[in-house]
Amino acid sequence: MVKIATIGGGSSYTPELMEGFIKRYEQLPIKEIWFTDIQAGKEKLEIIGEMAQRMWDASPYEVKIHTTLDRAEALTNADFVTTQFRVGFLNARIKDERIPLSYGMLGQETNGAGGILKAFRTIPVMLDIVEDMKKYCPRAWLINFTNPSGMVTEAVVRYGKWEKVIGLCNIPLIATMEEPGLIDKQQKELVYQFAGLNHFHWHKVFDLQGNNVTRRILKEMMEKDAGLPKNIFSVPFFEEQLDNINMIPCGYHRYYYRQEEMLSHSLKEYQTIGTRGEQVKETESQLFELYKNPELHVKPEQLAKRGGAYYSDAACATIAAIHSNSQTQIVVSTINRGAVPDLPADCVVEVSANIGSTGAIPQAFGCFNAPEKGWLQLMKNMELAICEAAVTGNYGLALQSFIMNPLIPSGATAKRVLDELLIAHQSYLPQF
Ligand code: NAD
Ligand code: G6P
Ligand code: MN
Repeated sequence: MVKIATIGGGSSYTPELMEGFIKRYEQLPIKEIWFTDIQAGKEKLEIIGEMAQRMWDASPYEVKIHTTLDRAEALTNADFVTTQFRVGFLNARIKDERIPLSYGMLGQETNGAGGILKAFRTIPVMLDIVEDMKKYCPRAWLINFTNPSGMVTEAVVRYGKWEKVIGLCNIPLIATMEEPGLIDKQQKELVYQFAGLNHFHWHKVFDLQGNNVTRRILKEMMEKDAGLPKNIFSVPFFEEQLDNINMIPCGYHRYYYRQEEMLSHSLKEYQTIGTRGEQVKETESQLFELYKNPELHVKPEQLAKRGGAYYSDAACATIAAIHSNSQTQIVVSTINRGAVPDLPADCVVEVSANIGSTGAIPQAFGCFNAPEKGWLQLMKNMELAICEAAVTGNYGLALQSFIMNPLIPSGATAKRVLDELLIAHQSYLPQF
C-alpha cells in the first residue's frame, strides 16, 4: 500500500489532487497521504486536510489524511513525494509581477524576470527537500509541480544528484484534452509528440494511420481560440509563422512571439484590475471560504478559474503509471538522453515519455529547424545559468541570465530590476 507525502499541502489545488487519486484508486491503492507545510501555512493546511479527508470519506475507499508541520515525519518511508509549494507565497509572486512591470518589462510567474526570481527562491528549498528525501525516503519518487517546474527539476538532477524525479505541467494535458474535439476525434485516435522545455515546447499530432494532422488542429485552434490555460491572454500567433513552424507552439510562446502585444496587455491589467497574482489572491480566498464548509466534499467549480486546472490528472496519472509499470505516455520534464539531439543529453527537457517503474523513458523527437533550435538552445542555456546562480548566489551569473532572457531588454534598467528584486525578496534569498 502506498504512502504519499505532499509538500505545500496547504495549496488550494490540493482537492484536485485528491480527486485524481480517488479516480485512480484501483490502479494506485493508497493507504495514507501526508500533507506538510510551513508554520505560516498552518491554517490553510488544516482547512485542506479536513476538506481532503471529507473527499475520501465520501468515496468507497479508506484513506487517512495526516497533516504535519514536521517535514521529516511526512517524508518518512513515503513512496511518492509531490511538491507544490510557493516560497514567499502569493505576495512574492505579486512582487515578481509588479516590479518588472513598473519598469515596462513583462512581469509573469514563470517567464521573464519574475520567473528567474521564482527559481532563485525555490531551488535552494527544493535541494533541501532532496537532502531530506535521501535521509527519510531514499526509495521515493519526487513528482514536482513547483514552478518554474522545468528549472526546478533540472536543479534536482544536476545539483541534488537525484534522478528519481519527474517534473510536470498541465499545459500538455490541456492540449491533449482539447485538441481531438477540434477535428472530431477522440483522444485515443491521435498520437502526440511533444518536445522542448517546460512552458517552451512544441508538439506535432498524427492520426492512427500516420497522417500528420497538426495543421488541421492549428487551423481550428486559431479560429476557436482553444488550448489556453486561464492565466494566458490570447494574442493570436502569426499564421505565416505557424505555417513555417509546422508544429503547435505552447501557450507561453506568445510571450516570445508576440512580446509587444503580451506586454501591453499585462501593463493594462497592472494599471487597472491588477496583475494575475493579485487576481488569483481573490479566487484563492473564495476557495478557502468554500473549503471551510463542513458539508463540502467535492472539488468546487471555482478551482477551474486557476491556470493549473487539471494538473492533478498529470500528477496522479504519472504516479499510477510508475506504481503499476504501465508505460503510459505522458509529457514530463525528464533527462533528455538524446530525445532532443539539439540539446545536451544530460539536461532536463519536457518531452513525451513512457512512464513505468523505472521512471520516464523519453521518446526520440529528432532535430528542430534552425529557428526553433536557436530558441531552444538559448532558453536551455539561460535555464542552466539560472540554476547555477540559484545554487551559488553568483551575482554576475544572475545578471547574465537577466541579459540572456529575451523578455528583459538589456542595459541599466535590467540591472536595476535585478537589484530591486533581490532586495524585495532578500529574506527568501540567503544565497545572494
Ligand atoms: P500557494 O501560494 O497556495 O502555496 C502552496 C503552499 O506552499 C502554501 O500552503 C504555502 O504555505 C506553502 N509553502 C510556502 N513555502 C513553503 C516551504 N518552504 N515549504 C513547504 N511549503 C511551503 O501556491 P499555489 O498557487 O497552490 O501553487 C503552488 C505551486 O505550484 C507554485 O509553485 C505554482 O507555481 C505551482 N504550480 C505549477 C503548475 C504547473 O503547471 N507545473 C500548475 C499550478 C501551480
Ligand atoms: C498554468 C501553468 C502553471 C502556472 C499556472 C498559473 O497553466 O501551467 O505552471 O503556474 O497555470 O495559474 P494561476 O491561476 O496561478 O495564474
Ligand atoms: Mn505549468
